[in-house]
Amino acid sequence: MTDFINFIKTIAREAGRIALTERRQFDDARIYAKGTDTDLVTDVDRKIEKFLFDAIHRQYPDHGFYGEETGITRPGSEYRWVIDPIDGTISYIHDCHFYSISISLQRHKKNIASAVYAPKLDELFHAAKDNGAELNGRPIRVSSRPTLRTSLVSTGFACVRAKLAANNLAKFARVVPKVRAIRRTGSAALDLCNVACGRFDGFWELHLNQYDIAAGQLIVEEAGGLVTDLTGGDHVPAEGTVATNRLIHNDLLKLLNDGP
Ligand code: IPD
Ligand code: CA
Ligand code: CA
Repeated sequence: MTDFINFIKTIAREAGRIALTERRQFDDARIYAKGTDTDLVTDVDRKIEKFLFDAIHRQYPDHGFYGEETGITRPGSEYRWVIDPIDGTISYIHDCHFYSISISLQRHKKNIASAVYAPKLDELFHAAKDNGAELNGRPIRVSSRPTLRTSLVSTGFACVRAKLAANNLAKFARVVPKVRAIRRTGSAALDLCNVACGRFDGFWELHLNQYDIAAGQLIVEEAGGLVTDLTGGDHVPAEGTVATNRLIHNDLLKLLNDGP
């Protein structure tokens, strides 16, 4: 497992260096629309995913790969790498701090080792199954704030971007008056890591994908937190993603489910 973690940390940092280098010479001609005019990808997303794919394939040629931009390769493999090359592409386009490289290694579709690296913040979160979670080499734990009223929570709006009818705005309006404060950073992977290190006490979002949350989910769980879907079950992210310090989980689920 140590070899996997050392490898993941190395490629995450190298991918971060690519992101920072390319950003210094970035312009709008390198932006492409994927679905709607706000569902964007850049050639840097694609360059980083190719770097990660090639590095992983050299090291582990029989492993599978599931990348946001290139899809699934070798679907029947025992091991599979789930990659979001830039989580928070819009942050990246605007040179905002909150974007990350998200890498998770799964064995039989269960996360066993992962890393989320925020290049502009130089924060490397990582976790190994049953071996805890760290931020820049120091152990991290979720917060011990016991109530919604003392909590800082975060969310995102994939559903609005995708112009889905079932969006998150009504839930957002219900949560805001009940918590200490709310944040919307622009990287679901970093939102999850901020729960894991105790900065945030909870996070939720609808309509995320496996590559958005796989790495952050293991980091939260290894830091003592809880990640469920909106019903409290394990159909994450298909039926929503709710991550907390455990103490506020049921109260947050009740509030999120108290209407559309
Ligand atoms: C997005 C970010 C954002 C979340 C969106 C995701 P992307 O990832 O994680 O915080 O709200 O739903 O799609 O598209 O920049 O990789
Ligand atoms: Ca993403
Ligand atoms: Ca992405």
